Amino acid sequence: MHIFNTVAELRAWRKTAGFVAFVPTMGNLHEGHISLCRAAKARGGKVVVSIFVNPLQFGQGEDFNTYPRTFEADCDKLVAAGVDALFHPTVDQLYPRVEQQYKVEPPAIQNELCGQFRPGHFRGVATVVTKLFNIVQPDAAMFGKKDYQQLKVIEGMVADLDMPIEIVPVDTGRADDGLALSSRNGYLTAEERAEAPRLYRNLNAIKAALEGGETDFVKLTETARADLENHGWRVDYVEIRDQDRLEHARAGDRRMVVLAAARLGKPRLIDNLEVDLG
Ligand code: PAF
Repeated sequence: MHIFNTVAELRAWRKTAGFVAFVPTMGNLHEGHISLCRAAKARGGKVVVSIFVNPLQFGQGEDFNTYPRTFEADCDKLVAAGVDALFHPTVDQLYPRVEQQYKVEPPAIQNELCGQFRPGHFRGVATVVTKLFNIVQPDAAMFGKKDYQQLKVIEGMVADLDMPIEIVPVDTGRADDGLALSSRNGYLTAEERAEAPRLYRNLNAIKAALEGGETDFVKLTETARADLENHGWRVDYVEIRDQDRLEHARAGDRRMVVLAAARLGKPRLIDNLEVDLG
C-alpha cells in the first residue's frame, strides 16, 4: 500500500491510477470502515483511503484533541483489506491558512438534527470532503449510512455543485447486539456498552410500528425518548424524516428514516434505520 503524506505525492500517483473508489475516514478504523473498503474494492479499480482528523468539523468542547489516533493498527487493517493507497496529510498540509480558509456552506439542513447540537459541523465536513475530492479526484466515494445526515449533505453537495463523483451509500455495520459500529463506542464503560443497544432497539420499535400502519409520529418518538431517558440517556433527538430530503415525515410518506442521537455517559451515539413501506 502506498502511503502519501502530501497533496503533490498523491496527485502524481493519481495521474496513472485509472478508476478510483475513495473512502474518506478519520482513522481509528473498525469493521464498518472495512466494509466501505470492500464496497470500494468491488468497483474493480484502485481504492484510496484517507485518514485525517478534520479540526473544522469539531466544535468547542468536542473531542478533537482526544479523538483516537491509531495509525499503525489502521495501516495493518487497510493492507489486509487490499487498499492501494492511503492519504494521510497533516493539518498544515490541508489547511495552511486555517484562519482564512474558504468554506463550503451546506443549506439549512446543516442546522437541523445533529447540526442543531453541533453548530458548524456539516460546514466542516462539506469543506474537507470537497478538498479531499479535489485532491483524490475519485470516480466513486463510499459513505456509511450510519452518518445519514452527513451522507445526505454530501449527496446534495455533489449534485448542486456538479461534482463528477458517484456517491455510494453503504449499510451500517453493527455488533451482534445491534449497536452501530463507531469509533466513539470506545469511550463507553463496560456497563454503558451493555446498555448501548437500547438505542437500536428503540429505532426498531418505531420501524415496526410504522410498518404496522402507525401514523402518530410524535407518540412514537416521545415513547422512545422516554424509554432512553428512563435508562440514563440524555437525548438530543429522536425524529422521523423522509429519506430523500430529510424533511419531517408526513402521513402517507413511504420512504422514511428514523434518526436518533443521545448521550450515554461521555459519548454521544447516533443511529438510524430506514423504513420502506413499499
Ligand atoms: O465520517 C467521517 O469519518 C468524516 O466525517 C469524514 C467524512 C471523513 C470527513 O472528515
